[in-house]
Amino acid sequence: MDWRVVPSRGVLTGRARVPGDKSIGHRALLFGALCNGACEIVGLSSGEDNQRTAQALRAMGVRIEEKGAHGVVVHGVGLRGLKAPSSPLDLGNSGTSMRLFAGLMAAQSFPSVLMGDEYLTKRPMRRVTEPLSRMGGRLRGQPGKKAGEEYPPLEILGDPADGLVGITHDSKVASAQVKSAILIAGLYARGVTFVREPGPSRDHTERMLAYLGGPVETPRPGVARVTPDGWNGVLSARRLVVPGDPSSAAFLVAAALAVGTGPGGVVIEATCHNPTRTGFLDALRAMGAHAEPVGLREEAGEPVADWVVPPGQPELRGVELGGDLVVRAIDEIPILAVLAARARGTTVVRNAAELRVKESDRVATTVRMLRAFGVDADELPDGLVVTGSPDRKLDAACVDSAGDHRIAMSAAVAALCAEGESRVIDVANVATSFPSFRALMASLGAEITGVEGEE
Ligand code: S3P
Repeated sequence: MDWRVVPSRGVLTGRARVPGDKSIGHRALLFGALCNGACEIVGLSSGEDNQRTAQALRAMGVRIEEKGAHGVVVHGVGLRGLKAPSSPLDLGNSGTSMRLFAGLMAAQSFPSVLMGDEYLTKRPMRRVTEPLSRMGGRLRGQPGKKAGEEYPPLEILGDPADGLVGITHDSKVASAQVKSAILIAGLYARGVTFVREPGPSRDHTERMLAYLGGPVETPRPGVARVTPDGWNGVLSARRLVVPGDPSSAAFLVAAALAVGTGPGGVVIEATCHNPTRTGFLDALRAMGAHAEPVGLREEAGEPVADWVVPPGQPELRGVELGGDLVVRAIDEIPILAVLAARARGTTVVRNAAELRVKESDRVATTVRMLRAFGVDADELPDGLVVTGSPDRKLDAACVDSAGDHRIAMSAAVAALCAEGESRVIDVANVATSFPSFRALMASLGAEITGVEGEE
């Protein structure tokens, strides 16, 4: 499947609600399954990545009932109630599922195999196999491109006879997936499990575990601790509300800023406004844009707000982005780079080497995408440089998504600002996170036409 995108003829206006946050959705399903009792999950995305987590849990005996279009009821089996799956667990494109399940499966009494698609199979797993092995987990990945690294499938033997032990892990990367894998295994371990990160990654695992009565503490940002000794081993079923995914909302906000908004502006309702996820809005502010949270509230342990892009925006300016802000905007760097192309001056993104091990090497694929649109962009070892101009339109382009949903959606937004019709190739992957992307863009006034690939 490809997209044909014609330049936007007018401004965008309206209200939209993006699918539930993918990160929170994975955790709601997984922790719901470990609860004693039934958890209703409201607002769950129907995206393929969350579905992979649900399927894997079903394969281990967890009953998950559909309830309307965006709700499920997970009948929890308790911390020790999962059953051995009869075949490898196929996690598709979902890196979060694989890393979270690595922690879960290392603590089970039965063996398992975790596999994924051709893209996931290229992603590094030693960052989880190493600390989980130190906890006593018996798991290993496959050798691959980089010596000493491990890749999927992961073969997991199940916990040793004397169980897992807690560790202190000083993570080299700020990664919520790594942190979460270790904390999940820590629920089953003897003693304290402690994770320290170079910068505070998203904290949905800690928030949800605390909400369900799990033995977790966050003494300060970037530090998390699980202390199961003295805990009754029960996660208590509660209603879980999944707010809109800010990483999906970012594409609609960026489209509104790139082509302009009409009276009333663009409002993305009920978006997750967790401070570990708001780097995108902070970056926009630094670029001179007005995009603000309104009606901040809390639902099921997560901050939520409507994101509002009012009309009458000033010209964007180039900025330098790095440090903790990049961790808090890691999935939004490709779309920020598109806005950088519309800004006056140069934008430099640093401390973003993690982008190279996402669904694609996003440093390379973002720069390639921008260059296809005639933008002056270069790779840095740990980021990128974009020199933008609000004065001239982008060139019409033909861009291959490289199998990466966020590159496909970033290219579609860029194409709205191009001189003529553009094409984005291989967009089926958008279904992993944001199946309603095209429909919501259309509801705001931007047409993106789906066409069969292979002409
Ligand atoms: C995620 C964490 C981030 C993010 C990914 C989702 C999560 O990855 O890029 O899309 O749900 O924990 P890392 O943990 O590798 O930084």
